[in-house]
Amino acid sequence: MSTVKCVGILTSGGDAPGMNAAIRAVTRSAIYNGVRVKGIYRGFKGLILDEIEEFKTQNVSNIIQRGGTILKTARCGEFKTPEGRKQAYDKLQEHGIDALIAMGGDGTLTGARIFAQEFNFPIVGLPGTIDNDLYGTDTTIGYDTALNTIMECVDKIRDTATSHDRLFFVEVMGRDAGFLALNGAIASGAEAAIIPEISLEKDQLAEMIETGFRKSKNSSIVLVAESEITGGAMGVAERVKKEYPQFDVRVSILGHLQRGGSPTAQDRILATRMGVAAIDALLDDQRNVMIGIQNDQIVNVPFSKAIKNDKPINRDLLYTLRVSSI
Ligand code: F6P
Repeated sequence: MSTVKCVGILTSGGDAPGMNAAIRAVTRSAIYNGVRVKGIYRGFKGLILDEIEEFKTQNVSNIIQRGGTILKTARCGEFKTPEGRKQAYDKLQEHGIDALIAMGGDGTLTGARIFAQEFNFPIVGLPGTIDNDLYGTDTTIGYDTALNTIMECVDKIRDTATSHDRLFFVEVMGRDAGFLALNGAIASGAEAAIIPEISLEKDQLAEMIETGFRKSKNSSIVLVAESEITGGAMGVAERVKKEYPQFDVRVSILGHLQRGGSPTAQDRILATRMGVAAIDALLDDQRNVMIGIQNDQIVNVPFSKAIKNDKPINRDLLYTLRVSSI
């Protein structure tokens, strides 16, 4: 018999489409299992500031299709200090919350892990980030929707790139990870992707141009992952202007529109499965794990693994992109 009687749920860090579907699943699964649920607004910040509300099933009606997070989100400096974490702990005690579900990316899970260890408090993490950069899960909540958004944008950019015979560098998000850029490039039929994981090994721009880039095409689109390592789309375009002035170059930075929009079916289903699994894990006395998915099976990944390890890109995809873009 689990000791968990009341669970708090919060979203923290960058929002991601599908977070609402996960909040809905957590709430309903908790209630289904006789556990009370409290929604904590604005992540760890709202926890410290006491922005907490009891959730019933109606609180999560009609949200599965909505992007963003009804719980709102914030990046919280105070939670990085022992004093801030103590305040957070006191609020949980005050509200009778005896376990926490924290949804977000790397920063959120890192904070959750420290807190769980410091106060011996049960926490289960949900991987909510468009970046897909968490180790131990094949995909994260929001990643598929962001990929689809990127694909739609690049489809539109292609129309104008083709009309003008231009070389476009399209910058996508990823916070130093190339998953969105690489799979976005494959999905949108782009000519290449410049990603930080490979920038450290070779000069992707030089290779692309030297291996006959643009020989058979009049226009080209290259997806560039945002990162100091790649230099971003602006950095790459500047280089091209200097080193390969024959190209008519343009830059498009997709920015925060990648984080918005109604979640895809895949993200809704993933978020719902993970939300239900998070409550199951807590009831099963699992602690300090992130819910992940591997080969379509839900798994519990210890925080230490999910955060500490860098998730590798699938190198087969580099070959797939190279072959499919000749
Ligand atoms: O982690 C999600 C993400 O969208 C990253 O891809 C990006 O680098 C960052 O958040 C942007 O953060 P903010 O919304 O705080 O500018």
